[in-house]
Amino acid sequence: MKIDKTLAVSEMYQQYVMETYGRADMLFVRGAGCNLWDAKGKKYLDFAAGIAVCNLGHCHPAVTDAICKQAQKLVHVSNLYLNEKQPELAKRIVENTFDGVCFFCNSGAEANEALIKFARRWGSDKKKFEIICMNDSFHGRTLATLAATGRSKYRQGFQPDMPGFKFVPYNDIKAVEKAITKETCAVLLEAVQGEGGVIPADKTYLQKLRALCDKKGILMLFDEVQCGFGRTGKLFGWMHGDIIPDAFSMAKAIANGFPMGAMMCRREHAHVLPPGTHASTFGGTALASAAGCAVMDTIIKEKLLDNCVEQGAFLKERLSAFVGKYACVQGVRGHGLMIGVVLDRPAAGLLAILRKKGLIALSAGETVLRLVPPLTVTRAECEKALKIIETGLKELNKESK
Ligand SMILES: Cc1ncc(COP(=O)(O)O)c(C=O)c1O
Repeated sequence: MKIDKTLAVSEMYQQYVMETYGRADMLFVRGAGCNLWDAKGKKYLDFAAGIAVCNLGHCHPAVTDAICKQAQKLVHVSNLYLNEKQPELAKRIVENTFDGVCFFCNSGAEANEALIKFARRWGSDKKKFEIICMNDSFHGRTLATLAATGRSKYRQGFQPDMPGFKFVPYNDIKAVEKAITKETCAVLLEAVQGEGGVIPADKTYLQKLRALCDKKGILMLFDEVQCGFGRTGKLFGWMHGDIIPDAFSMAKAIANGFPMGAMMCRREHAHVLPPGTHASTFGGTALASAAGCAVMDTIIKEKLLDNCVEQGAFLKERLSAFVGKYACVQGVRGHGLMIGVVLDRPAAGLLAILRKKGLIALSAGETVLRLVPPLTVTRAECEKALKIIETGLKELNKESK
């Protein structure tokens, strides 16, 4: 009798892995570019990219090569010594953003922890500690990043919340102005809110916020964990505002799926976290940094920002035509290849239909279908995805009649 591998693996999960995720019973065994294959050999078009992680597509040869070569040479020595690759990655990030310095860690939440600690330490001698955050934001699952997250459902059961965070509506400059006190040290935001529903910040809002932070002498911090590394058509989301932040966090796509996170601040703030004030055992290993260097080089060499803008505009235009045509579609928003299709109902039903038809996508803020394909996606793959989405919408429409 042939064993159903998916079932066998699912049973092992049930027995041995903590159930903190609502996982679909789908066992992916191979990926290449925008495609995934499950254990039964079925091929899927991947418009989730591991939640905006595999921006170069699955198993991009440049990243695979870099990982294999580095793994044969040196993996880890700790941050008590130097490794060749960490400053190479930092140099690439700095040279493509602004003059500053990087700190490396392993995940988005950790990168935001570093950002929060950086802001508090910066404010400590001025007795400023409070950080103004946005409603509907998402910054991670550690206790500090949960406290900074603007959706209280994530915090339930983990109270008391860490103090020092305040919330204001997103894209509302007056609300920030009102919330600033003499204890405020920073404002923290996503340039495009990801988990909150793919909501971009307005350019004028970003510019006014920068001016306000300068006027009040507080830090402007960006969480670029989801919208960074070319996802929005610019290398980092804050670039849409034509402004320079004081510091920002990165993770997800930084090493195309190899775990890594980072925080970067302006050079004038480089002294804020001196030796002994912050650390991470695995941060910026030679192996992760080698993968990160390959990602940065590939984004530039393959002109992925151009492709992101082009395919993103095409998808947005075609998806916008579904508004009015299908009653359940209320709108389309986002930048580049971070696109949200706003539905009149939870996106979970549509996602299940799409999966059956061979398209992997995501939800955001419950009622938004989130599309974040690899930045390498081709026009033909976009057309294929659109076809699947349209048949899915037709099915949804039929269901609601
Ligand atoms: C904007 C943002 N910040 C932080 C995080 C947390 O990242 P991680 O899961 O790597 O800790 C996420 C994850 O989805 C995110 O989207």
